Amino acid sequence: MKNTVTICFTNNKGGSGKSTTCSNVGAAMARTGRKVLLVDGDMQLNLSLSFFTEEEVLSMAENQKNLYYGVTRQEDLSDYIVHTRYDNLDLIPSSTLMSSIEYELFTKWQREFILRKGLQKIKESGEYDFILIDAPPTLGGWVMNILCASDYVLVPVEASPWGMFGLANMFDFLNHVRELVPSLEVMGIVVTKADGRKGYFRQTMETLRDMEGIRLMESVIRVDSNIEWAQDNSAPVVEYKHSSRSAKEYTALAEEVIRNAGGKREY
Ligand SMILES: Nc1ncnc2c1ncn2[C@@H]1O[C@H](COP(=O)(O)OP(=O)(O)OP(=O)(O)O)[C@@H](O)[C@H]1O
Ligand SMILES: [Mg+2]
Repeated sequence: MKNTVTICFTNNKGGSGKSTTCSNVGAAMARTGRKVLLVDGDMQLNLSLSFFTEEEVLSMAENQKNLYYGVTRQEDLSDYIVHTRYDNLDLIPSSTLMSSIEYELFTKWQREFILRKGLQKIKESGEYDFILIDAPPTLGGWVMNILCASDYVLVPVEASPWGMFGLANMFDFLNHVRELVPSLEVMGIVVTKADGRKGYFRQTMETLRDMEGIRLMESVIRVDSNIEWAQDNSAPVVEYKHSSRSAKEYTALAEEVIRNAGGKREY
C-alpha cells in the first residue's frame, strides 16, 4: 500500500509565497503522475482560488463543502474532497468562516490533533502520494493543528528585509510543535520572489545559508509576473504557462521536494 506523505507550507510572515508555492508544487507533482490532495487551511481562500473561480469557491461554501465544516464537525475529511480540472489533483477548499476556527477548537478534546484525525482515513486509504496543506500567516492553535497533521514543513521565505524578520520566532514555534510531534521534520526554507539583480537577494541567501541546522532548498523561485496572470485566471502557473521561468522553477522544486520526502515514501 502507498505511504502518503503530508507536507505543510508555513510562515507567519504574510505574503511570503506559501499559497503560490503550495499550489504550484502540487500541480507540478500531479503532472508527473503523483496523486495529490491539496488542503486549503486559510480563510483567505487563496489555494482554493488557485483552481476555482470566486463564484465556484463561494458556492462550495454555501454547500458546506469545505474544511471549516469538516473540522468543526470532526468528521472524516474524505467527504469534503473536490476534483480540480487537472488529473491527479484534488482539493479540500476553505471558507471565510475559518476566521473563527481558533475559537471553535478551543474547547475540543485533544484540539491540536483534530485535522490529523480528519485526514487519517485518507492517509490510510493510500489513495494519494502527497497531501499538501496551505497554512495562514499566523502561529496559533490552528497552525499547530496543521503542523501536527504533517510529516514535513516547508517554509517559503520572501527574499526581502522584512521577509527575514521574525524567522527565528517561527523556528522556535516549530521546535515546540516537534516536542508534541517528534516525527515532524523541517524540510527546509525555499526562497521566493527573488530578484537576482538585487544585491539584497545575494545577502539573503548568505544569511539563510548561515542559519544553523536549517536546510536551504536548492531551487529558488524568482519574481515572475506570469504567476499573477495565472492566479488571475484561477490556475497555477505550471498549468497556465508551462514554458515560463517560474513554471520551470516550481517543477524543479517539486522534484526536489519529492526527493527529500523519499525517506518516508516508497515508490
Ligand atoms: N515568484 C513570484 N513572482 C511574482 N509574484 C509572486 C511570486 N510569488 C508570489 N507572488 C505574489 O505575491 C503575493 C503573495 O503570495 P502568496 O499569496 O503565495 O503568499 P502567502 O504567503 O500565501 O500569503 P499569505 O500569508 O497572505 O497567505 C501574491 O499576490 C502572489 O501573486
Ligand atoms: Mg496564503
